[in-house]
Amino acid sequence: MIFSLVGVVGAGQMGNGIAQVIASKGISTILVDVNEDALAKALETIAKSCDRLIKKQKISDDDKASLLANISVSTDMKALGDCDLVIEAATENIDLKLKIFQQLDEVCNKECLLASNTSSISITKIAAATNRPENVVGMHFMNPVPLMKLVEGIRGLQTSDDAFERVKSFAEFLGKTFVVAQKDMPGFVVNRILLPMINEAIYTLHEGIATVEDIDAAMMLGTNQPMGPLTLADFIGLDTCLSIMQVLYEGMGDSKYRPCPLLVKYVEAGWYGKKSGRGFYNYAT
Ligand SMILES: NC(=O)c1ccc[n+]([C@@H]2O[C@H](COP(=O)([O-])OP(=O)(O)OC[C@H]3O[C@@H](n4cnc5c(N)ncnc54)[C@H](O)[C@@H]3O)[C@@H](O)[C@H]2O)c1
Repeated sequence: MIFSLVGVVGAGQMGNGIAQVIASKGISTILVDVNEDALAKALETIAKSCDRLIKKQKISDDDKASLLANISVSTDMKALGDCDLVIEAATENIDLKLKIFQQLDEVCNKECLLASNTSSISITKIAAATNRPENVVGMHFMNPVPLMKLVEGIRGLQTSDDAFERVKSFAEFLGKTFVVAQKDMPGFVVNRILLPMINEAIYTLHEGIATVEDIDAAMMLGTNQPMGPLTLADFIGLDTCLSIMQVLYEGMGDSKYRPCPLLVKYVEAGWYGKKSGRGFYNYAT
């Protein structure tokens, strides 16, 4: 085992999935969030996810019990002091992430590797906020983490080969396929390609070219995508989609990345997609 104690910062849809996958491999995992409710909801989500896996006979009741026993939660960053690796999966906001990495740098032991699950923000900039930039790596999981096979690895300018290789080995140990973004550019690989497509789907709706359902059906049946782009946007979170588009737009300085005004309006309304109950579709139960 490469790491015996791993921390995850941010217990939202990505953080809880990352904690679940790590804990399922027998590794003690500490999940930290500023919001107690988010931590309680994360444990509930992980338990439900285990129940689905039990139903599919992929894990046993005992596996669920030991997985849950491997996870502890805290609202205090200091709980991460003894970790070998901390993966940050908090809200996609540059100022917030810089602050979190400064805090992690203070509380974590000197050898601890720090990884960010950011979808688009510069790993180089995040690394520069710490006194251990060589030990900061981009580790971009996909949603939902227990099901999706990919982890995208991103090297900041300062990332050491040793730190990068250890994160790669760990991703592979978790059963993921690791692809490498050779350059730390906005959106890396997946979101450089995916988010402009989603943004264009939102423009297609905004300009009245087709309905939500028809845009999704067109892309599913016409281009063989398993899920339409507007459904996928709701699953990612429209706040996250907007943040990624803003990083692409500002980072590349190219108008082709400008976020669709309709996306901005939905986020202003608090319509963040599945996690808030409403996005392009209604998820209220
Ligand atoms: N949603 C996706 O499909 C997806 C996929 C890959 C990567 N990501 C990235 O993962 C990260 C998290 O995304 P998400 O979808 O899980 O968001 P989310 O909104 O579901 O969860 C974010 C969590 O971060 C917590 N948080 C905020 N400030 C914090 C702080 N200072 N300390 C600790 N926790 C804090 C919030 O309370 C919340 O629980 C983002 O960087 C996002 O870009 C998202």
